[in-house]
Amino acid sequence: MNAVQTHDRQTIPGIKDTLAVSSGKGGVGKSTLAANLAVALASRGLRIGLLDADIYGPNIPGMLGLDGRPEIAGDGGQIQPLASHGLKAISMGLLLDAGTPVIWRGPMLAKMIHQFLFNVAWGELDLLLLDLPPGTGDVQITLTQTAPLTGALIVTTPSAIALADVRRGVEMFRQTEVPIIGLVENMSSFTCNKCGHDEAIFGTGGEQTARQLDIPFLGNIPLDPLARSQADTGTPVVQAHPEAASSQALAQLAGAIGTHYLTA
Ligand SMILES: Nc1ncnc2c1ncn2[C@@H]1O[C@H](COP(=O)(O)OP(=O)(O)O)[C@@H](O)[C@H]1O
Ligand SMILES: [Mg+2]
Repeated sequence: MNAVQTHDRQTIPGIKDTLAVSSGKGGVGKSTLAANLAVALASRGLRIGLLDADIYGPNIPGMLGLDGRPEIAGDGGQIQPLASHGLKAISMGLLLDAGTPVIWRGPMLAKMIHQFLFNVAWGELDLLLLDLPPGTGDVQITLTQTAPLTGALIVTTPSAIALADVRRGVEMFRQTEVPIIGLVENMSSFTCNKCGHDEAIFGTGGEQTARQLDIPFLGNIPLDPLARSQADTGTPVVQAHPEAASSQALAQLAGAIGTHYLTA
């Protein structure tokens, strides 16, 4: 029996597909991957939107170097997303002064997510990426109930603790009938740039977990200081350093996702 009702889902006019970048655990790289994938997919010519669904901890403005307030325009008072890096983005972080915390209960959170989905002037998009907060809480429930999520990408690190959380996330999407397009393992290994030694700092196990859960394994993204520093400075690594090991893995992932949606 489904724990969550899914029959109230609406479609968003003009948006072909919606992909949630999700994980059970925080800090595994969802926002980093969402920002890099959005930029990489936009550079392939897809019309991309990026919705920062992490209302309490919005990181997309920082990772994309966005500033400025979205304007409210038109008869319906639509929120205008910010255009940058060839894509459109919206985030709670753009509506607040830096450093202001959001202290809301679930119903307010749900309203904001609804606004971001249905009251933003997204225009025509091939794909709307959603950067989710970790876990299986209010935002996930709202999204899986009201949003026409056409896919979920699960991000994990290879540590046993993160992989245990993957199972919960997979179960949530299964119960809410959101197709899981695959699992990506982030921070897979670190190659020392002085001696070339490869170290699996967080262990291994993403691919095996994907197999056990019967979901596609979409690849490994290495732990790369450039991915971190570029996230901190607001130009995603795929754009700033396309030759970097992390960028190449991210570009490959974007290629697989782009193909998935273009041929779907
Ligand atoms: N492949 C990677 N290599 C190095 N640092 C990474 C990588 N992926 C993410 N990070 C860094 O790890 C931290 C957490 O990533 P973040 O995307 O904020 O995770 P989440 O959104 O899942 O909480 C950030 O400082 C980010 O720059
Ligand atoms: Mg995040």
